[in-house]
Amino acid sequence: MRTNIVVVNNIFDDQEKIKEAAEVIKEGGIVAFPTETVYGLGADALNEESVKKIFIAKGRPQDNPLIVHVASKNIDSLVESIPEVAQKLMDKFWPGPLTIILKKKDIIPNMTSANLDSIGIRMPNDEIALKLIELSETVIAAPSANISGRPSPTDVQRCIEDLDGKVDCIVGGHKSIIGVESTIVDCTVNPPLVLRPGGITLEMLKEVNPRIEIDKAIMKKPSENLKPKAPGMKYRHYAPKAKVTIISGERKKTIEKINEIVHNYIDNNKKVCILTVEEHEHEYKEGTKILLGSIKDLSTVAQNLFEALRKCDDLGADFILAEAYEEKGVGIAIMNRLNKAAGFDIIKV
Ligand code: TXA
Ligand code: MG
Repeated sequence: MRTNIVVVNNIFDDQEKIKEAAEVIKEGGIVAFPTETVYGLGADALNEESVKKIFIAKGRPQDNPLIVHVASKNIDSLVESIPEVAQKLMDKFWPGPLTIILKKKDIIPNMTSANLDSIGIRMPNDEIALKLIELSETVIAAPSANISGRPSPTDVQRCIEDLDGKVDCIVGGHKSIIGVESTIVDCTVNPPLVLRPGGITLEMLKEVNPRIEIDKAIMKKPSENLKPKAPGMKYRHYAPKAKVTIISGERKKTIEKINEIVHNYIDNNKKVCILTVEEHEHEYKEGTKILLGSIKDLSTVAQNLFEALRKCDDLGADFILAEAYEEKGVGIAIMNRLNKAAGFDIIKV
């Protein structure tokens, strides 16, 4: 398949390009596009045949439902009912990195919801994405625009790397500013439950309803009696080719341990990357340092995390060592992604 790659600098000058991509969606094709969280791979959510193409292009398991992206808060035609708490969350956080799970109407095909009777819906805070949805005159089902299992793409180059030749069109824009996928809140249960942590933190959600809790299973290694409730959270994910290990503990001990492990690997002719922050960078003398951001502002770490994992692969790393972050605020989302990338391989010091 020939993939049409278009770059949008701003939605006013480049409206024609977005229109072209919208035509592809209308005709049943699949299009990668920017959002504020990560790039998405979209199709007409109401067209079963189009949605099927997403699963094929990504190599995605069919039992993993897609998120429906909308350009307006009026979602009455898509869902059975909107509980008060869901309405409040939408009013406060849309457009933005929050997906809300609600009971679906029959207009949403089973291919999109993976046969569930509920559907995740989100209004992205990205003008290219919103314009694309609007001009498509439908709602767009979109998972992250990566090959299943790989780190999600946060810029157009990474989309091209994974999807060139597999999709009809790739719309390039700016880098994703959040860097991790949306927070998912299941509003079909009472109190609502966070199924995936993201840019909208638990603390922010609790301001709307203090009873909102987080699915206990998502921060632990999946086991027979502890399974995450979002189907997608059970899969191995965000995995670079290199083996990832997290080192967790007090700052000084963490740095000591990482230096010790790096030294051993290098002695054995292995290539090691260290995921670190600007405050600790100077503490490491050996290995390749990959800077995520600043410990003082964890949103910078979230923003660069997936790109850093991919960069380690570009560098041919055999091993990646990552410092752990406090599980607070966006730190919960960062640790969730790191845990999955590491297959829960954590050294506590
Ligand atoms: O930020 C995002 O949400 C990005 C961008 C492109 O918008 N999209 C994204 O989609 O991360 P994806 O497919 O990579 O992740 C969707 C997650 C999966 O874990 C899936 O199992 C869960 O949402 N999900 C979707 N519908 C669900 C439902 N009805 N019930 C429970 N979990 C659901
Ligand atoms: Mg994904």
